[in-house]
Amino acid sequence: MTSFREMRFDDLFKINSLVFDSLTEVYSLTFFVKHFLEFPGLSQIAVAPGADGRPMGYIFGQYQVKRNQDPYGHVAALTVSPDYRRLGLATALMDFFFMVSDLKGASYVNLFMRISNRAAYQLYTSLGYAHRQTFLDYYPDEPKPESAYELRKYVPRPMEVQ
Ligand SMILES: CC(C)(COP(=O)(O)OP(=O)(O)OC[C@H]1O[C@@H](n2cnc3c(N)ncnc32)[C@H](O)[C@@H]1OP(=O)(O)O)[C@@H](O)C(=O)NCCC(=O)NCCS
Repeated sequence: MTSFREMRFDDLFKINSLVFDSLTEVYSLTFFVKHFLEFPGLSQIAVAPGADGRPMGYIFGQYQVKRNQDPYGHVAALTVSPDYRRLGLATALMDFFFMVSDLKGASYVNLFMRISNRAAYQLYTSLGYAHRQTFLDYYPDEPKPESAYELRKYVPRPMEVQ
């Protein structure tokens, strides 16, 4: 059975096959290490059954608290191995992160995605995420940059009656 657990430093040396997907956000090793230290509990990995514990997918989440802004969760990276797609893994990872963000007090969860990434758009809209804004030429690809959608899903909260 698939198991889900918090990502560890040693997982970073096992996820190369996932990171090489052209639509997966790639960050430096330093970024990932800093990420673990700054946002403990916000990254999850799905691992296949078996002694070698093959990585099936992961999510890197952040919790942002900025001055004069509502706190929010941010999905920095989400990917599922091509061998394990359409099994609900991304849905499970996103649901986990939304729940944790809610528990921490986030107003919403957001993410950025390439506008050409139809699978991701379909996934996120099926989970209730909606288009918030478009950032032109956000991804500095050569020879042509690509724009990004910011998608958001708000955490339902009871209204305060004045
Ligand atoms: C996008 C991605 C994360 C989806 O992962 P997944 O585990 O296959 O997604 P799920 O099984 O949870 O899919 C849930 C729903 O999303 C939609 N969906 C997922 N992949 C899809 C695809 N290739 N085409 C159309 N819809 C898709 C479907 O509505 C699906 O429900 P269904 O299978 O009942 O039809 C995966 O394809 C991936 O890792 N892509 C490369 C990296 C990437 O694009 N990451 C997101 C960057 S913003």
